[in-house]
Amino acid sequence: MFSLSRLVKRALVLIPLGFVILIFLWSHGSKENGAVLKRENVRHSEPVDTVNSISDLSRRPNRQKTGFHSPAQIAIHPETLPQKHDELTLSKLKNKTLLFWDWNWNPLESKFYDLMEVRHCPVKACKLTKDRSLVKQADVVFFLNGQSTPKTGPTYRHPSQRWVWVEGESPCHSRRLDKSWDGLFNWTMVYRADADVLLPYTEIAKRDTPIKKDYLSVTKSKRKLVAWMVSNCKTPSRRMDFVKELQKYIEVDIYGACGPLKCQRSGSWGWDTTCLDLLARDYKFYLAFENSISLDYVTEKFYKTVNIDIVAVTRGNTDYTRAGIRPEWHINTDDFNSPKELAEYLHMLDKNPEKYVKYLEWKNEYRQLPDRAFCHLCERLHFQKEPPKSYSWDELNAFFWKDHCLPPTDI
Ligand SMILES: *[C@@H]1O[C@H](CO)[C@@H](O)[C@H](O)[C@H]1NC(C)=O
Ligand SMILES: *[C@@H]1O[C@H](CO)[C@@H](O)[C@H](O)[C@H]1NC(C)=O
Repeated sequence: MFSLSRLVKRALVLIPLGFVILIFLWSHGSKENGAVLKRENVRHSEPVDTVNSISDLSRRPNRQKTGFHSPAQIAIHPETLPQKHDELTLSKLKNKTLLFWDWNWNPLESKFYDLMEVRHCPVKACKLTKDRSLVKQADVVFFLNGQSTPKTGPTYRHPSQRWVWVEGESPCHSRRLDKSWDGLFNWTMVYRADADVLLPYTEIAKRDTPIKKDYLSVTKSKRKLVAWMVSNCKTPSRRMDFVKELQKYIEVDIYGACGPLKCQRSGSWGWDTTCLDLLARDYKFYLAFENSISLDYVTEKFYKTVNIDIVAVTRGNTDYTRAGIRPEWHINTDDFNSPKELAEYLHMLDKNPEKYVKYLEWKNEYRQLPDRAFCHLCERLHFQKEPPKSYSWDELNAFFWKDHCLPPTDI
């Protein structure tokens, strides 16, 4: 029999349960899945031809067009900065106040207040603070995307104060800015090479003294081919689908939440190199596949392989040279017509250690270092005269979100 009281009882249990499930799905799914729905279909594809060696790679026409340049040069205009700072000038500088209105981002964590020291900035006269009561004297105020609105922002704004929009995620995973920010931001600060202030995931620097590692003998002890460590299985870039296809032609060992293998973790997942260090002993290649396909979106997935004896296979479908990453430093899925062709290339390198080590030898001369975005910014605030500017909402939207979360075209 149909009992009303039983129905009510059930509803009392099921409705809150449904709520919990909905909230769970929303918080876990919105990042990855919502973005898939939002993305715009505008990917242009370039014709790709077969690549058989590194020298072929560097001869590829699309490589020559871009060439090597440091994005920092785009962002800080070094020609307008003094080549060298004399001690007297430096000692006379008044501290600039950099206020982080909302910032709970780990790159700064414990070292936050000493950042200028920790990073050995040439110009250290900047005081980093999260103390909102200093807003009147702040030279720059940073807003990490999506956390505040002008309503919850400062109530006072000094005319010469710069407001900076900051983002670290790809546009696929970043909420579009509230329209009430229209006209209020002066600068953008993000990993994009064309940002006002470049905030890369990290930097690659030339070593003062090159090391001389014998990579051929390093290679001899590697018994396996491809490793991938991953915790987000479903992403806008559909990297899992790519890997599944790749696995038909080459063995790929998947570690982490999306695969059968486990590797002892320590520290934060993204930057945990302990595990990767272990993998580097056994594996020749590491899949540095981004979760999103978006202009200049190159993250720790690549950078964490730099100081380690493993070759990164990158998939970001973006021009890595804009981040200062040269073609001969990684194997880029963009250079192959299919996962099958990529697998053939990896097999070829496996059989030709002298070709394989070419992808490691650059590490003798370069290494990965924490980014010095705030050093550059501080120097610039002191030494670079810049005309005022601000961005409309439309401009920011066109710069970062609109048509910038792209669907994959290689699977
Ligand atoms: C500037 O800030 C630094 C770091 O907080 C501090 O050590 C230094 O004394 C300050 N300099 C001036 C001139 O206020
Ligand atoms: C920053 O933006 C505000 C608001 O548009 C503007 O009034 C101010 O002149 C800008 N300042 C600088 C230094 O660009």
